[in-house]
Amino acid sequence: MNIAIVGSGYVGLVTGVCLSHIGHHVICVDNNPDKIKSLRKGEIPIYEPGLEELMHACMKKKRLTFTTSIKDACQKSLVIFLALPTPPRANGDADLTYIENVSREIALHMDSYKLIVEKSTVPAQTGKKIIRTIQLNLPKKFKKGNKILLDFDVASNPEFLKEGSAVSDFMNPDRVVFGVESKKAEKILREIYQPLKAKILVTNTASSEMIKHASNSFLATKISFINAVAQMCDMVGADVLKVAEGMGLDKRIGRQFLDAGIGYGGSCFPKDVDSFIRLSEKSGYDFSLLKEVRRINEKQLDSFLHLVEEKLWNLKDKTIGVWGLAFKPNTDDMRNAASLEIIAKLKADGAKVKAYDPKSMANAASMLKGVTLCDDPYSAAEDTDALLIVTEWPEFKDVNFIQVRDSMRQAVIFDGRNMLDADQLKKLGFDYFGIGRGRL
Ligand code: UGA
Repeated sequence: MNIAIVGSGYVGLVTGVCLSHIGHHVICVDNNPDKIKSLRKGEIPIYEPGLEELMHACMKKKRLTFTTSIKDACQKSLVIFLALPTPPRANGDADLTYIENVSREIALHMDSYKLIVEKSTVPAQTGKKIIRTIQLNLPKKFKKGNKILLDFDVASNPEFLKEGSAVSDFMNPDRVVFGVESKKAEKILREIYQPLKAKILVTNTASSEMIKHASNSFLATKISFINAVAQMCDMVGADVLKVAEGMGLDKRIGRQFLDAGIGYGGSCFPKDVDSFIRLSEKSGYDFSLLKEVRRINEKQLDSFLHLVEEKLWNLKDKTIGVWGLAFKPNTDDMRNAASLEIIAKLKADGAKVKAYDPKSMANAASMLKGVTLCDDPYSAAEDTDALLIVTEWPEFKDVNFIQVRDSMRQAVIFDGRNMLDADQLKKLGFDYFGIGRGRL
């Protein structure tokens, strides 16, 4: 199948590479000429395990190309996936300007049947707006009065991949959802995904759009729920790790997404929860549960910072080490990462900050000013009054904590992700503070 992917960000690039890997001819489009130039040279602008190798293999087989021209991609493809940014507006609405502009451009260059597929997370009813935009902008030869003479479909096929495990999530999905309004669109999508042998759910476009928003909002709710439980654990002397384990053993609940910490971040959950709240408001339903989910998430970070302040007394002129800058492990992505807010607050309170992340140092150099960026975890801990674990990179478990302890001014660890062995660290003489571990 000849497929175009418009938007070569995380979702677009992973989708393009993986669809090419399973046998399709894919053209990835982006309006950033520098990005396309690098991609053509086989250089990948993000860190995502396994993606680069797969991309090189697909390029070698001549099944993956890159262009800045929507016209070119549109004319060579039967199916066009939209993997465009939908950033939040100040009021929480998803900004769909990119989707509208690209839909208009596709319409201008359509010369035969096309299936246009939404991959980005968009509010329900966006599919209808894309159809309208395409109808309005089709060349005159395809319109006769109110009649549209060119057949096309718009479908929704939301992406559920997680950064850090995106390639394997794509290849082994729990489900693939098709939101379609015609048998033809369903048939084409089934053919595209046939090699994955995945569980497929077919529904209409609006339900498919809702599935994506509701899934992300539900996962965010799970995280805020366990974070609220963690606050209670601190008050009653319980350990949230055991509580999550005990809850998770119930198959109806499940253990995943019950890791208490400093809250969810990244480019998806905060934006999608906001956008779902806005959609509910506009539809006339007050989804107050989600507003509370968001409030708990914000409070979680505040209470972590409050704890640091309380234990260190004054932050002014103290030096704090930060381990982990990415919004989660196995990615270099720092968008909406907890580290940004934490570091800004520490600096505002007069602390000096030293930081290390295994993959995000290039992003950190452009996003963080006035922070000492270190080459390894040891130098980020040296001469500090406390160490903050902000991202749970597995390699932090293997650090020699005796060396860390001896190099710090005060051996104090605030583990924002509950990733380290509290008992072992306490034995080594650290003051260890986790999240919801029973601080009475
Ligand atoms: C999320 C969803 O998990 C994907 O299914 C979805 O496709 C994607 O958004 C998207 O909409 O594009 P992602 O943002 O890459 O994926 O990362 P997650 O692994 O879901 O983590 C999100 C945030 O929640 C991170 O800040 C993570 O640290 C936090 N988290 C996650 C917790 O605090 N506790 C947990 O138990 C799990």
